[in-house]
Amino acid sequence: MNIAIMGYGVVGSGVAEVLKKNHASIVKKSTQDELELVRILDLRDFPGDENEKLFTKDFNDILNDDSIGIVVETMGGVNPAYDFVLACLKAGKSVVTSNKELVAAKGCELLRVAEEMNVNFMFEASVGGGIPIIRPIINCLAANEIDEIAGILNGTTNFILTKMINEGMTFEAALKIAQELGYAERDPSADVEGKDACRKICILASLCFGNHVYPDEVYTEGITEIALADVEYAKAWGGVIKLLGRATRYGDGKISAMVSPAFIRCSSQLAGVDDVFNAILVRGDAIGDVVFYGRGAGKLPTASAVVADVVDCARHSASRKVFGWEDSIADYVVNYKDIKHPFFVRASFTDEAAAKQSIADAFGEVEYLTYEGAAANELGFVTAPVAQSEFDEKIAKAALTVGSVIRVTDY
Ligand code: HSE
Repeated sequence: MNIAIMGYGVVGSGVAEVLKKNHASIVKKSTQDELELVRILDLRDFPGDENEKLFTKDFNDILNDDSIGIVVETMGGVNPAYDFVLACLKAGKSVVTSNKELVAAKGCELLRVAEEMNVNFMFEASVGGGIPIIRPIINCLAANEIDEIAGILNGTTNFILTKMINEGMTFEAALKIAQELGYAERDPSADVEGKDACRKICILASLCFGNHVYPDEVYTEGITEIALADVEYAKAWGGVIKLLGRATRYGDGKISAMVSPAFIRCSSQLAGVDDVFNAILVRGDAIGDVVFYGRGAGKLPTASAVVADVVDCARHSASRKVFGWEDSIADYVVNYKDIKHPFFVRASFTDEAAAKQSIADAFGEVEYLTYEGAAANELGFVTAPVAQSEFDEKIAKAALTVGSVIRVTDY
């Protein structure tokens, strides 16, 4: 069976590398006589590349080649990836992608087309890089009703937060290193503003809960406003700050989904997940909590997941994977303003006694936090659980200048 790659960037070139390096065992596991990379689509030139002869700038060279049964899409972005993937599926080719933006925007539709054409559309690498998570959700946890998912879903932001927590490094300095190491997306705002994690929680929520959740339905906050003072207050509370993507299913069938920085206790399984590593906690009614951990970004870890899907497509070329991912439904995702959490607040004051009185008037009893070196006119506290809408109203009335607000979780 022949393979083509669309997009020879970090992941695409990693796929070619892994296919070559482990060729014999990959072919054996695929149960095919041969798995050969025969075409690579990219608009750029790669003079001297070992695959130089395979390059084309014309998508039709892949689409019209009947010997190509599996197409790997590692271009990123929705367009033109969507048009190309759709055309490949309609031409009867299975498609494997690492492109979370595409899957979050069009996953349900592309799965439906794949089903109609009796081919496969697979996307293990779109969430958690090299961590097996899509296949475990649809296969290994199939016995469970999944009620909750929470994950550190973005390697770049986890790397930055780890540098801030462990080395006291500023956000800007840590981002620069993440970019130099190739972790960050081309546009780092997708990472640091939480959009990348949002796409991933959409994919996970759609798979776990059964209906498509779109990125614009998910309240998303990144880490650009996190200050070193917040990191210190989290330590004083007994925890760390992580960027979490989370989704919950309620008894009435509705769900919540959100991406935001969060305080998590040091005892949490997610707290020790550092650097570029990702971890995803899945809460099932039979299994309880199960955590998937590994490298969530990078060339070869992501290529590992892509090539595993290629092997799966080749091995099951006559059958289809069933994902149970249906269309979106109206009013499925609840408004984030209705979700209750405890909130951490860092704020400055002009009159400490008046500030504390106003906090007591608004929130009743709160937990005050402090650390050595905290600014003299600043305080940090954690409220009892309160709906976001109520919190917003109350904090606006307090005699404080709010520096940051971070949700507190119990994962
Ligand atoms: N930029 C992403 C991350 C790559 O840092 O996690 C993997 O999706």
